[in-house]
Amino acid sequence: MDSPICLIENLNGTLSVNEQAIDYLMGLEQKIVVVAIVGLYRTGKSYLMNKLARSKTGFALGGTIQSKTKGIWMWRVDHPAKADRAIILLDTEGLGDVEKGDSKSDAWIFALSILLSSTLIYNSRGTIDNDAVEKLQPNRYVTELTELIKVKASSGASSADDEEGSGSQFVQFFPNFVWVVRDFTLQLELNGKDIDADQYLENSLKLKKGFGKNISDYNMTRDCIRNFFPTRKCFVFPFPATVEKMQLLDTLEDKQLSKKFSSTADTFCRFIYENSPVKTILGGKTLTGRMLGHLINTYVATINSGNVPCLENAILAMAELENQAALEDAFVMYKKEMEVVKALFPVDSSHLSENHLKSQTRSTHAFMERSLKDTDGKYSAILAGKIKEYANNLFEENQDASEKKCKALLDKLSATMDHGVKEGTYSTPGGYELYCDHHDTLMARYRAEPNKGVKAEEVLEQFLKEKSAESSSILQADIKLTENEKHIQAEKNKTSQMAQEKAALDERH
Ligand SMILES: *[C@@H]1O[C@H](CO)[C@@H](O)[C@H](O)[C@H]1NC(C)=O
Ligand SMILES: *[C@@H]1O[C@H](CO)[C@@H](O)[C@H](O)[C@H]1NC(C)=O
Ligand SMILES: *[C@@H]1O[C@H](CO)[C@@H](O)[C@H](O)[C@H]1NC(C)=O
Repeated sequence: MDSPICLIENLNGTLSVNEQAIDYLMGLEQKIVVVAIVGLYRTGKSYLMNKLARSKTGFALGGTIQSKTKGIWMWRVDHPAKADRAIILLDTEGLGDVEKGDSKSDAWIFALSILLSSTLIYNSRGTIDNDAVEKLQPNRYVTELTELIKVKASSGASSADDEEGSGSQFVQFFPNFVWVVRDFTLQLELNGKDIDADQYLENSLKLKKGFGKNISDYNMTRDCIRNFFPTRKCFVFPFPATVEKMQLLDTLEDKQLSKKFSSTADTFCRFIYENSPVKTILGGKTLTGRMLGHLINTYVATINSGNVPCLENAILAMAELENQAALEDAFVMYKKEMEVVKALFPVDSSHLSENHLKSQTRSTHAFMERSLKDTDGKYSAILAGKIKEYANNLFEENQDASEKKCKALLDKLSATMDHGVKEGTYSTPGGYELYCDHHDTLMARYRAEPNKGVKAEEVLEQFLKEKSAESSSILQADIKLTENEKHIQAEKNKTSQMAQEKAALDERH
């Protein structure tokens, strides 16, 4: 993917998915690390995302289609260290942009960034003061999120008790959280001691003692971040360059950037690559690009229909599609393996059974590995059914192949004899013995032929049955011929005896 494309567009408060982007995701079988960035416009988000993509350009600052299109932009880049996973960078455009403002769809974009990502980067400028925390509006976005989206299909009307429950249910869907502070000018210190960025963040999220609405709000915002993002990290970036060059951040050469800025950017990128987990869903199942594509379709369709998206339902809908695909692939795997055996047909039934069982086990295993929430075994039952039907056909085909081969073999072996029968080779006295000789040779040759398959005996039996009439007629003929011969011999003997008698009589006279 050469450059980012729009994934979800937010037009006049209506979200739409970009089919081209979804198609792209659907073709992605790799595990995915999804890194989303949120934050107010013009805070330099694109620079960081381009840096993560190891590219100077891509995500754009100002004046381009991208900055005019509200929504979520996507860029798929290779993982620098792990070939089995891809990084999906998501940039959100137009959040908190008054001109394009539409708070409801802002909330959706924010909610989707959280739901789709495995690492969420929040980019802000200046310091983590109360203003910055409030701009993140965790109260609004996160608590709204828990109202916008349900975790469980079954959870009823939300009561105060439920909210706490669903809040903790939400956490399992939440990404790691990275707060990036840009143009940071303060010293990192607390009570005169040097601290690191993470300690700075934690300190900023500390609750205040006291009473009153202001403190209660202050506490709630921080509680919200602390509860929903238990895994947190912070980076503080100094100004990248002198003020005059600031406008041109994207065009600056690395050497024009301050050393501190560059090294922070490098540390940041390394951290994201090394620590961003692959995206998982309930039960720790890793998502592929294709599964993410399904999820996005479901989320956006539900949001647009005005219904409350339910994470569990969305995952179930995705699981259905995924399981269907998993079962089809597993079945193809079985078929492919069995085709190797099929090429050798006819084979022994034990050979066929063994291979069938082995392939069935492998295919079922592959399905199990990939299937999601197939707890009622619906899809594994379909797979088993398909394999059974296919196997039954294979066993039949193997029998047919054996039958065909054995018949052809017998035809070939008996050709000379058949010819002999027609030509009357066996229609001589003693012909039957000759016939039997030839017959025995045929049988011996038939038995010596290897790989006749499961029908060898049955076909032979049938053949012998068919030949039994021929055999007995040759025997009968032989007996007749032989009797005839004996008769003629007897006649001859008689004649010669009579001649002898006559001669003897003549002698006496
Ligand atoms: C969006 O709203 C603007 C102004 O209200 C209107 O001019 C434009 O046609 C709308 N676009 C769509 C696609 O509805
Ligand atoms: C509470 O906050 C408001 C506005 O942020 C401020 O005007 C007010 O003085 C604060 N009240 C207290 C008691 O700090
Ligand atoms: C804010 O949190 C602190 C620490 O948990 C607590 O002592 C204080 O009472 C809280 N104040 C309000 C108004 O919630």
